[in-house]
Amino acid sequence: MKEIIKLIRSSSYTIVFTGAGMSTESGLPDFRSKNRGLWTKFNPDELANVHALDSNFEEFTEFYQYRLREIDKYQPHEGHFVLGKWEKEGLINGIITQNVDGFHHDAGNQNVMELHGTFRNFYCNQCKREQVREEYLNGKSQCEYCDGPIRPGIVLFGEMLPEDVFYKAEIETSKADLFIVLGSSLTVTPANMFPMIAHEQGAKLIIVNREATPMDHYADYIVRDKSIKEFLVEVDEGLAP
Ligand code: APR
Repeated sequence: MKEIIKLIRSSSYTIVFTGAGMSTESGLPDFRSKNRGLWTKFNPDELANVHALDSNFEEFTEFYQYRLREIDKYQPHEGHFVLGKWEKEGLINGIITQNVDGFHHDAGNQNVMELHGTFRNFYCNQCKREQVREEYLNGKSQCEYCDGPIRPGIVLFGEMLPEDVFYKAEIETSKADLFIVLGSSLTVTPANMFPMIAHEQGAKLIIVNREATPMDHYADYIVRDKSIKEFLVEVDEGLAP
């Protein structure tokens, strides 16, 4: 840990990359943890897929209303706020996240690239008009203007990532001399390419994840024996002057 603390202190441009493992200690389930990830209970192909908007809209809506209620029940944990503090102090320069819970914003981070969109907004899939989150939560699923299907502002399987966000994440990764992955299985493309790109352009790569990932062979440091919250709190204590 001492070397990691030294690296964070001495790096000139540090980018953090987070996955669902960042929010499990807030209470939100991740997707692929053995026996408890969301995809062990629900089938992503049927629910988190753009085709579900046509072929399975009722279950699609139930699933995302459930996920929205879950997100509203929880809030960022101490580790999120450590990242917010580090950005303010200039120790990190931005967060590329696959998470849609908005917890990095809530914890005060400004430079947050949400590759997979966000649950903070909803829109009609047909006319693209913005919809009211609370009305969706209370069961409204059809657009009042065109009767189209209302959906969360997240990227579904089968959809493209938001180009502007993806491009910014590429730029930020190209500037990084330190790249820290927190809580991702790094199994979903193209998001999982960023750690590899960072490594290939010479950045130091730290992967903090309970389970092995397919990118571990690129990592300079792998932390498995601490949870993400424990890791962030411990490093923060080590960074204190
Ligand atoms: N501390 C350390 N590691 C953790 C913790 C924790 N507290 N909690 C979970 N993990 C690890 C799990 O072991 C797992 O390897 O975090 C990883 C989370 O991986 P996934 O559940 O696959 O989540 P993620 O990588 O973000 O998934 C990517 O897949 O379904 C899509 O769009 C969805 O953005 C998501 C994408």
